[in-house]
Amino acid sequence: MITRRRFLADGAVVATAAGVKLPVWARVKNVARAAANPTAGSAGLVEHGLLLGVDYYPDQTPESLWSEDARMIAEAGLTNVRVAEFAWSLMEPREDSYDFTLFDSAIAVLAKHGIKVILGTPTATPPKWLTHKYPEVLRVGPDGRPDNDQTRRHYCYNSPKYRRLSKGIVEAMVIHYKDNPNVVGWQIDNEFNCETHECFSNSCRRVFRDWLVHKYQSLDGLNTRWGTQFWSQRYAAWDQVDLPFPAPSFHNPALMLDFKRFTSDSVASFKDDQVEIIRKYRPNDFITHNGVFKNIDYYNFARNLDIYSYDNYPTFSDAPQYGTGAAFTMTRGFNGRMMIMEEQTGPGGQTYLLRSPRPGEMNLWAFQAIAHGADGMIHFRWRTARTGAEEYWSGVLDQDNIPRTRFQEFKKEGTEINKIGPEILGSRIDSDIAVIKDYDDEWVFDHQYFTREVNIGAEYAYLFQAASELKYNIDIVSPNADFSRYKVVFGPHLILMDPTLAKKIRGFVEQGGIFIVGAHSAVKNRDNAMTDQVIPITLTDLFGTEVDSFNCYQAPSRDKNGLKFEDGSVLPVNVFADLLKPTTAKVIATWDRDYMKGIAAVTENQAGKGKAVYYGSFFNLESARYLVQRFAGEKNLQPIFTNFPKEVEVTKRTKGNNNYYFILNHSNQSVTVNVGSGFYDLIEGKDASTTLELRPFEYKVLKR
Ligand code: GLA
Repeated sequence: MITRRRFLADGAVVATAAGVKLPVWARVKNVARAAANPTAGSAGLVEHGLLLGVDYYPDQTPESLWSEDARMIAEAGLTNVRVAEFAWSLMEPREDSYDFTLFDSAIAVLAKHGIKVILGTPTATPPKWLTHKYPEVLRVGPDGRPDNDQTRRHYCYNSPKYRRLSKGIVEAMVIHYKDNPNVVGWQIDNEFNCETHECFSNSCRRVFRDWLVHKYQSLDGLNTRWGTQFWSQRYAAWDQVDLPFPAPSFHNPALMLDFKRFTSDSVASFKDDQVEIIRKYRPNDFITHNGVFKNIDYYNFARNLDIYSYDNYPTFSDAPQYGTGAAFTMTRGFNGRMMIMEEQTGPGGQTYLLRSPRPGEMNLWAFQAIAHGADGMIHFRWRTARTGAEEYWSGVLDQDNIPRTRFQEFKKEGTEINKIGPEILGSRIDSDIAVIKDYDDEWVFDHQYFTREVNIGAEYAYLFQAASELKYNIDIVSPNADFSRYKVVFGPHLILMDPTLAKKIRGFVEQGGIFIVGAHSAVKNRDNAMTDQVIPITLTDLFGTEVDSFNCYQAPSRDKNGLKFEDGSVLPVNVFADLLKPTTAKVIATWDRDYMKGIAAVTENQAGKGKAVYYGSFFNLESARYLVQRFAGEKNLQPIFTNFPKEVEVTKRTKGNNNYYFILNHSNQSVTVNVGSGFYDLIEGKDASTTLELRPFEYKVLKR
């Protein structure tokens, strides 16, 4: 079974060592661009309504079809297409010889029908002349072998040659389209770290050492903070430090974490090369990147992008409602703005083949994205490819160009999105509940995974599902986010603790917030090293408890113990059991069974105006539901609607005094819900009735 798992998981290091050329990540200029100057570079985004479009491949389509395609794309109400993200060999058939004629003509044909263009920089698919003339650009796997160059994403981010040639094609493209009024935005490369998410090339080895020199300044610094006295791992020279190739025994956790951080920074700096070029020549265009994959800290990565793009293929999951909702929520938290660059349209597959969306599901999923904050909806793809690895990845039109049901559904969606667009654009999701997502912590558990049941991404999704079932908006945020806007914050797996985060958690609680930390949090410092402090380190007073010992239940763990609350609820353990020794905290649950029966499992400590809650296990769906209900209740948080069935998802977007309510029926049954009075139906363009009859997969957008 093919699973395209969603990766529901530190910033650049600035220092320099004598004689080492500063890598791009040390010259971060545009950091926090989107936050500092939200409109700059996003002119192309805010013109009239939600960005609405399709991924179009004139490079894979007979020119004779372009004009009719453009007419039909416009007929469907679309305003934009994305093109060129895989067309390097066409635009640079030989080294340093550029030819943009095909895209010039296609863009002109599209412009005749009022369609603007998002250009993709084609560095995900280097031409053959490049990989054969410069094999050192190829990504290298953990087995030390370079990738085969006959698919995509087979390059190394740190190859100086690849950097130079990538900048070459991007600069040539941007200069060529410098004054073209039909270009409005740019997608950098395509889905970084999809298919592969680490590289073991000589370039990466060399740059990793540079990166470590920047970070630790001296070998003593590295040896001390990595604790290399263990197993005689002490490094006496920088060139003794290597990438974590497969080895006879277990690698140092500090090395493993820094390798992930380095990988993330390498991707970010590869992206920054291109951002800098585009900003230089086309400062008003918006810049984005698409897809969410492993080993990238997207909070850092998205800082200098205008909007982040998610690629949404719900049929990778049997029941996409909550997984997809959680993924949108996560993406929205990257830099505050999100859109969909690839929305599933029809059946999809490469060597595998997924189920087809049922009639109505395509539109529902598109509106689900907008319900969670998407400011743009681009579908993948206009016409299904006739050749290549994705002959089964269906577009709006099949290979025979005959518009069928999908085209009609697509047109319906275009009409509806254009109706709500002007109202919705600029509205945002306001949440009282948040979940902290810390990439460092996820990367620690990627290596020291404890048991195969530990799944941090799933825990974010459980917390999302619990809030969504109770009809609350919820955010997933960086540890650097401003917590003060929330009432209840969850901290799953905050295994690494540092003074800045500890101070923020303390401040949030003392100001009146309820902070719920998951088990085995605040155990190590940011060097991924244990300390001599009592756990939770630096926070024992805030939580009013200490971790006396722990147990790790092997899979399947859920029936091995429970957390028994004073109201009689017993929640199944999820892998980890912390045995707590409260100091000032009140015990609200004890262990139900096993040798720890009766020992404190969950405590809550009043601190300042708020509460710090220590939950002695990892979160599962039961505990997420129980804790969200309990503490949202304590904070008297108001659900968006009440008495709605679980399969009807609701969110609320706000702009000034206006609220926009998204009501989405994810079930293949009709349901009736009561919304009360005073709502205006934005899609129907009339007052909404107090009771709504929602057909299978139907949705409503109401304004009040
Ligand atoms: C991804 C890629 C696309 C295509 C689709 C279909 O999202 O960006 O190029 O491969 O998936 O799987």
